[in-house]
Amino acid sequence: MNQHPSSAEQTEREERREFAALQWFAVVVTLIVVISALVIGRQIGEDVQNDAPPLHPARMATNAADAAAPAAGAATTASASAGSSGAAPQPGAQAASSPGPVKKTAFAPPAADQIPEGPMGDVIRQGEQIFLHTGANAKGFVGNTLNCVNCHLDAGRLANSAPLWGAYLSYPAYRSKTKSVSTFSERLRGCFMYSMNGKAPPDGHEVLVALETYSYWMAQGTTVGEKLPGSGYAKLPKPEKAADYARGKAVYEAQCALCHGANGEGQRSGDVQVFPPLWGAQSYNWGAGMADLHNAAGFVKANMPLSRGNTLSDQQAWDVAQFIDSQERPQDPRFTGDVASTRKQFHDTENSLYGTMVNGKLLGQGIR
Ligand code: HEC
Ligand code: HEC
Repeated sequence: MNQHPSSAEQTEREERREFAALQWFAVVVTLIVVISALVIGRQIGEDVQNDAPPLHPARMATNAADAAAPAAGAATTASASAGSSGAAPQPGAQAASSPGPVKKTAFAPPAADQIPEGPMGDVIRQGEQIFLHTGANAKGFVGNTLNCVNCHLDAGRLANSAPLWGAYLSYPAYRSKTKSVSTFSERLRGCFMYSMNGKAPPDGHEVLVALETYSYWMAQGTTVGEKLPGSGYAKLPKPEKAADYARGKAVYEAQCALCHGANGEGQRSGDVQVFPPLWGAQSYNWGAGMADLHNAAGFVKANMPLSRGNTLSDQQAWDVAQFIDSQERPQDPRFTGDVASTRKQFHDTENSLYGTMVNGKLLGQGIR
């Protein structure tokens, strides 16, 4: 009789112990599962981050491929449609603030096919056409065969290629170049005077209105005063060795001359400039932003050779920029009548070769 309760007690105790052991087992298994899930999850996250192509070269490549289309002969339409190709980005979508592995996504401006109908849409489209085919649509204000899109790729959309959405937000701003606060419109006028080697349209002219409207539309969804990643041109750090003309010439001959010509004259097909000139009478003048080595090196590194951006080393990009900007081009419209004093007033920086001696020749004499 005594045995029974005690054995029952014992069984109960054993059962409780087993149960406790089971509970412990369950807890340990759960912990192991949770910890490995965390570890694996993190690894996957890291892998995604490592595998994710650096965003901006990828975008560059896509864009450059779009831009390459004119080369294939469809020059007049390819640039215009470049912006509407690919997945239509959400206007205002700003991946910069989205979580996840890809952090520095540039702002995604609306695609060309999202330009609204109506009178506002008409002016936006007019601005787009001026941007793509500048000489034909801004008659009287262009002094060379370049188009705005040659340097502001993908119809002014491409991040790090001074996109219009970034530019629109950046003005009014104080500029050391003019020693005053410039409005957006004044900035546009500047590109006509220097990059296009032309004449600035007068204030309020429909060409400026159209370009400003196009830029405003592209910046939909941004915030005034915001400094968006991808604005302006990518700035390359100074190279290890001082940029060198001879090394730059070698890079040019191997990787650029095919499209831009042995003498930097570019290539034309009938009326259409298929590959833009890099120097000479039809290129940007000495006052242009591209005549600044820092801008040129950054642009070339990110975008050239076309469709193979970011394949040159930083050194090669600086060397080839040195070579290009050591060639003669139209005079700076601010020319004082004397190269030395013009350098002193407007080009007194290590990034300008204006007024320096290169291979025994004084640069900055200008050509017509
Ligand atoms: C030869 C190349 C070239 C061409 C062609 C060109 N630009 Fe530019 N543009 C530049 C460079 C380089 C800068 C930056 C200059 C600087 O910051 O010193 C710039 C700056 C700008 C900016 C200000 C960008 C910013 O983020 O502050 C605007 C706006 C602009 N250009 C509009 C135009 C328009 C409109 C045209 C055509 C009428 C045009 N550009 C043609 C090279 C060019
Ligand atoms: C496959 C042809 C091709 C090659 C190769 C190429 N480019 Fe270009 N480049 C272009 C085209 C096309 C544009 C204009 C892009 C646009 O309008 O979308 C351009 C634009 C430019 C511009 C700005 C516009 C101008 O005329 O100033 C510079 C500067 C430039 N290229 C430099 C270079 C350099 C330096 C190399 C060699 C490292 C190079 N390119 C190789 C086709 C090419």
